[in-house]
Amino acid sequence: MLDKRNELNAWDRDHFFHPSTHMGMHARGETPTRVIGGGEGVYITDTNGKKSLDAFAGLYCVNVGYGREKIADAIAEQAKNLAYYHAYVGHGTEASITLSKMIIDRAPEGMSRVYFGLSGSDANETNIKLIWYYNNILGRPEKKKIISRWRGYHGSGVISGSLTGLELFHKAFDLPRAPILHTEAPYFFRRPDRSMDEEQFAQYCADKLEKMILAEGPETVAAFIGEPILGTGGIVPPPKTYWQKIQAVLDKYDVLLVADEVVSGFGRLGTMFGSDHYGMKPDLITIAKGLTSAYAPLSGSIVSDKMWRVLVQGSDQLGVIGHGWTYSAHPICAAAGIANLELIDELGIVENAGSTGAYFRSELAKAVGDHKHVGEVRGDGLMAAVEFVEDKDDRKFFDPGKKIGPQVASALLERGVIGRAMPQGDILGFAPPLCLTRDEADIIVKVAADAIGSVFSNL
Ligand SMILES: Cc1ncc(COP(=O)(O)O)c(C=O)c1O
Repeated sequence: MLDKRNELNAWDRDHFFHPSTHMGMHARGETPTRVIGGGEGVYITDTNGKKSLDAFAGLYCVNVGYGREKIADAIAEQAKNLAYYHAYVGHGTEASITLSKMIIDRAPEGMSRVYFGLSGSDANETNIKLIWYYNNILGRPEKKKIISRWRGYHGSGVISGSLTGLELFHKAFDLPRAPILHTEAPYFFRRPDRSMDEEQFAQYCADKLEKMILAEGPETVAAFIGEPILGTGGIVPPPKTYWQKIQAVLDKYDVLLVADEVVSGFGRLGTMFGSDHYGMKPDLITIAKGLTSAYAPLSGSIVSDKMWRVLVQGSDQLGVIGHGWTYSAHPICAAAGIANLELIDELGIVENAGSTGAYFRSELAKAVGDHKHVGEVRGDGLMAAVEFVEDKDDRKFFDPGKKIGPQVASALLERGVIGRAMPQGDILGFAPPLCLTRDEADIIVKVAADAIGSVFSNL
């Protein structure tokens, strides 16, 4: 066993190009390799036998928890019957057709069709192409600019990485590419003027968006994209009335709305979709992670009736749509999606995310909110963040070089709980599987309080 572990370690350093990893440090053996061997419920186990409570559900995706046999069996059965057939030229499988119906049945009102992809990034690439196609068919080829937000996360492809508003994902990649622009993040804790209340700050964000649209020319602005609740940018719920105010600006200038629900879709906020939770009226919805709880890679672009009608007009004019991937609507992934959505209903996962989420966030705030270096505890549903500050009264942030967020995340891991140091700011994020129990929530809270206390007492 030890030999095998050493061998894997060596192969990993020499051959595995990891995403979002310090390449040099990892290759030189300066950062640990952790080989995960198994998972059950909210726990994962590594090949050294260390068990951890995964309070980030992988990358906020294993929503029904690890080790669900129902999904594993559905995958195996599909693989045996028909591992693959494509979806081009009207082909489908029972699994892909059934899943598209199940998604539309659960989606917000006014949604019509699902285009399947494999990742959140590729679904957002599809969305932007559909928006450009839509405006070409409507005879307004100049209406192509997309407005995203600083701190938004929409993937790391060329277009989706441009939509992302985090420095790390642009640096040295020559991103963002035109025609993508970024506006104010709806980040109440970091608002520029601390005398603003939530609604005033929401108005400030909507006014900034309107100014940008007017400066660019409304005839050139095609769409606005946003996560209902900011995820990777810091787990930040929108300030009160934000989406209503943004929606009014978009409607005024005939700008489409893309709701990126890769994280919030299928229950994380205690509702099936974040758009319903916050009263958004999207024209396109991006889905991925929670669609299969990451048991197989599958994403989707949910297209509204309004857009679908124009897309159909497009193929009547131009012929077959020139967009398609070999693995779109892959039957094995679709089978995983069906079993996952059934399980979500059977287990009452969405309701649990709402009720256990509220309990978890309130216990977390009670346990760490008064710490002198905790600036804010925030979240919604089963998403929570603790943001650290050097000085609470002045809202003074730590020097990023001190790596407070990563230190706290490491202290948690040493104590058997996985939280995530969010990439921009000293922010500890939680997004556990949606099957979390109150006892498991208590463990996370206790360990978080202990880890935070220990990091700051050693500072
Ligand atoms: C909101 C959002 N959109 C898109 C993506 C990209 O998804 P993927 O990593 O599957 O490409 C993510 C990934 O975390 C995300 O959080």
